[in-house]
Amino acid sequence: MISKEQEQSIRELLEKMTVEEKVGQMHQLAPSIVGGFDVSFEELIEMVTDGRISNEEFGKIMSTAERDFHEEDIRAGRVGSYLLNDPKKANELQRIAVEESRLGIPLLYGFDVIHGFRTTFPIPLAETCTWNEKLFEASAEIAAREASAYGIKWTFAPMVDIARDARWGRISESAGEDPYLGSLFARAKVRGFQGKNPADRERIGATLKHFVAYGAVEGGQDYNTVSMSKSMLHNGFLPPVKAAVEEGAMTVMAAFNDYNGVPCTVNPYLLRTVLKESYGFQGFVVSDANAIRECVSHGIAEDLADASRQAVKAGMDMDMGSNVYHDHLVSQMEQGEVSMEVLDEAVRRILTVKMALGLFEHPYVEEERMEQYDSGLKEEHLEAARDTAKRSIVLLKNEGVLPLKKEQKIALVGALADDGENCLGAWFANGRGSECVTVKAGLERAGAKVSYGECCGVESELDREALESVCKEADVVVAVVGEPNAMSGEASSRADITLPGHQRELLEAALETGKPVVAVLMNGRPLALFWEQEHVPAILESWQLGVAHGDAVAAVLFGEYNPSGKLCATFPAMTGQCPRYYNHPNTGRPGGRSKFTSRYLDAPVEPLYPFGYGLSYTEFSYENMRIKEDARCFSVTVQVKNTGACPGEETAQLYLRDVTASIVRPVKELKAFEKVLLAPGEAKDVTFVIDKKEMGFYNEDMNYCLEDGKFIFYAGGNSRDCLEQERMVAFS
Ligand code: NOJ
Repeated sequence: MISKEQEQSIRELLEKMTVEEKVGQMHQLAPSIVGGFDVSFEELIEMVTDGRISNEEFGKIMSTAERDFHEEDIRAGRVGSYLLNDPKKANELQRIAVEESRLGIPLLYGFDVIHGFRTTFPIPLAETCTWNEKLFEASAEIAAREASAYGIKWTFAPMVDIARDARWGRISESAGEDPYLGSLFARAKVRGFQGKNPADRERIGATLKHFVAYGAVEGGQDYNTVSMSKSMLHNGFLPPVKAAVEEGAMTVMAAFNDYNGVPCTVNPYLLRTVLKESYGFQGFVVSDANAIRECVSHGIAEDLADASRQAVKAGMDMDMGSNVYHDHLVSQMEQGEVSMEVLDEAVRRILTVKMALGLFEHPYVEEERMEQYDSGLKEEHLEAARDTAKRSIVLLKNEGVLPLKKEQKIALVGALADDGENCLGAWFANGRGSECVTVKAGLERAGAKVSYGECCGVESELDREALESVCKEADVVVAVVGEPNAMSGEASSRADITLPGHQRELLEAALETGKPVVAVLMNGRPLALFWEQEHVPAILESWQLGVAHGDAVAAVLFGEYNPSGKLCATFPAMTGQCPRYYNHPNTGRPGGRSKFTSRYLDAPVEPLYPFGYGLSYTEFSYENMRIKEDARCFSVTVQVKNTGACPGEETAQLYLRDVTASIVRPVKELKAFEKVLLAPGEAKDVTFVIDKKEMGFYNEDMNYCLEDGKFIFYAGGNSRDCLEQERMVAFS
């Protein structure tokens, strides 16, 4: 990560540092709110959570809050990193660290830059539906350019958690359920944020989070416990982490949850054995917010001193915001509970990242850089956001209603249709709702004939009269329904993932008008849409697409862009099917029609929309599957044909099943995909190459096994509808 000379200067620094200064490097804080408003900070948080005040009002109140920036601690070398999004303040505090502290070690500023910074891109779950690594990388690069202009040199992204349970609110921040696609996403994000040289002015350090298996919290309930075999962990959840470490990710954030009884924050198996030893990770590990302190609540540490001791010994290098290292590590050292070697290793890792980010040479941000973004969005960045947004949309159902024609009179209903804030999704950094193009604005900009009436809020009653009046003259009803931002993301799990509030009634009433109805969904997770699939003739999943939301939806509704998105997470038919994911281990009684198979009595066997699914305004056929084998790999070729009437882009997918192995294997696993653009009537051969080394799995002893035997290759446009062929494979 750094040069020999830089390594030497770190060694020299370590020799000069006092224990207090070393612990300082391991301490990350954020400004503390010390008052300045009429109610307590806790009350304020409750007010925004229960809706008594809006996000915007909360933001205004916060901007007037009195804050303590802990200047004295910085001057004394007791702070290593800061969670901050304010370039002026960042420079001010940096000046104290660099010019007034004894050793002049710069602060590292980190922030959550998850899907854009000023220019908000689609939420990660949406963006992954593009199945397009170039776009994953490009949006991260733009985010890095903008965030670095605000003094942020480190992002807490990408989130690489495999998410199989749609109840879990943080599925919106993830790349969905598949380890292969998730690994490509993770690698691309690291490249996009860090570039070839993360020290470049417009690049920032990436964080792989959350390490690990946070997406498998029991019942999809946030912060819950995780019990899982090692083979499942290594095959199903760790691949994106491993891939992104190989790509050079500089930091890793431990997850809140425990793994098999030991919180990830203090888990030596995860932090040392897997990450630092087996993967050879050279950067540093940061805890999640307050997580070291929470080890006492977990019941794994008897007090905070014990928590500090366990965490540092397990390989936790930096404490995010819990003050536990700051308050206890020095005394733990004095009592001989923690060795200097352990402390030095953590500090060396942190200083290595700071050096690699160029902070010692360029600790300050040029404040003028921020001004160019603060005054408005860059056209070039907006264009990239528009392009990604339209490619993220997934057409779930279409009974001849779409695309719409510009002459058609559209009745647009639903509160989300005219709501910029809720285009942003969870974690929107410096994105602004007022800059987002809503569906209403997007349709109007596209020249549509629109009459709009809210008719039903996400949680308010349906106004039937308003609906009738908006729909009276219309040729088609477009109902925008779904979830507001706050229903997904952190601490936003739902026990019922059907459309919230009265929105189904809105759809029912719209259908009663007898006009064709299009449901445009805006949401941060797969929803359970069993009823909607049965009754609504066209369903378009638009997720939360960020600043270009409405432009992208309008382009797809009018067929100016033929939808090409494919789901990166399964849509269950009903909430009770969760967790539902395509690559589940096989059972002795696979779900079928018979009662004594793995299924529910009151739900279909199949999910509603499988992984990899997504319609187009044209159709594609798959034929003539051929497999070739050489010493190193299998090449699978299939002919994909556009059998419809308009040009379209298809994502052809290749899955594999290891039929018999020494442990139970998934029923299918994605191994490759290719995008093809086809004119009407055009056919192309698509070839997928699978390296034989990729056909194995980890067993319980963490050994990677390639076992001879029968495999099935599947090729198709989603994980359910595939051509298939068997092969006997011998690896030796
Ligand atoms: C808690 C979240 O779990 C994590 O993803 C985020 O990066 C930190 N807070 C910092 O905001």
